[in-house]
Amino acid sequence: MKTQIFYFSATGNSLKVARDLALALGGAQILSIPKVIDKELDLSADCIGLVYPVYMFGMPLVVSRFIARLKAAPGKYFFSVATCGGKAGLTLKQNQKIMQEYGLKLSAGFIVKMPGNYTPLYGALPPEKQAELFRKEEERVKYIASLIKDKSSARIESDMFLFGWLFSLIYKIASPKIPVLDKDFYADNKCDSCGVCVKVCPVRNIELFEGKPKWFHKCEQCFACLHWCPQKAIQYGKSTAGRTRYHHPEIKVQDIAI
Ligand SMILES: Cc1cc2nc3c(=O)[nH]c(=O)nc-3n(C[C@H](O)[C@H](O)[C@H](O)COP(=O)(O)O)c2cc1C
Repeated sequence: MKTQIFYFSATGNSLKVARDLALALGGAQILSIPKVIDKELDLSADCIGLVYPVYMFGMPLVVSRFIARLKAAPGKYFFSVATCGGKAGLTLKQNQKIMQEYGLKLSAGFIVKMPGNYTPLYGALPPEKQAELFRKEEERVKYIASLIKDKSSARIESDMFLFGWLFSLIYKIASPKIPVLDKDFYADNKCDSCGVCVKVCPVRNIELFEGKPKWFHKCEQCFACLHWCPQKAIQYGKSTAGRTRYHHPEIKVQDIAI
């Protein structure tokens, strides 16, 4: 069975899941959504998967846009894996609905819990708690792979049975504003103009202007710029200055750079 996995990842959790899944499936082509979204696509695999983080209880905008590219491959076995730091809500149901609009069927959707990376609310988890999540992730991915190998029509998972609709409403209200939420990013005086923020931005939303990053309001709110800044100079609003940054320990900045 030929499998393609399209992933979006800012701090490496979703890339790690994509890699582990490819391994557990006995091989798969792994492609970065930001790198291929505007390119010609070879969708010849029988089985096509999406792996991405949950943002505000919904899908990253770039992943929703990418689904339009898959309409060229109806009738395939599609699966998705949403990585999240706490609750995914109805993210995978949203994924299923968008696919339906393009005449595609999401056959299985899985949630994988990983360390959270939303620094405006919290810093990185302590290493022992991260290690525990990584151990569970590896087990869970093996189970997910066993279902995908059988092309199972597994459940489209959700983890907020009673209040899912409320969190979907939060996403509905917040998501149109995501591109301009970059107005709260800035570089403090630790910035040494290295340009890593420019390289890791998945949508080329950052340029250096007089040696300092400038954001151009087509943000995905992925926080790659903040987490990968070697000087920890990028801040968001007032709360991030003293907080620890995060990236998956097996993923390097070169893996994320566009
Ligand atoms: C803007 C933003 C919003 C987020 N919203 C949620 C959320 O609603 N629920 C959740 O469980 N995690 C949320 N997270 C955490 C990420 O989904 C989680 O850490 C994910 O595994 C990161 O994946 P990555 O390392 O591949 O970028 C959010 C992170 C960011 C940056």
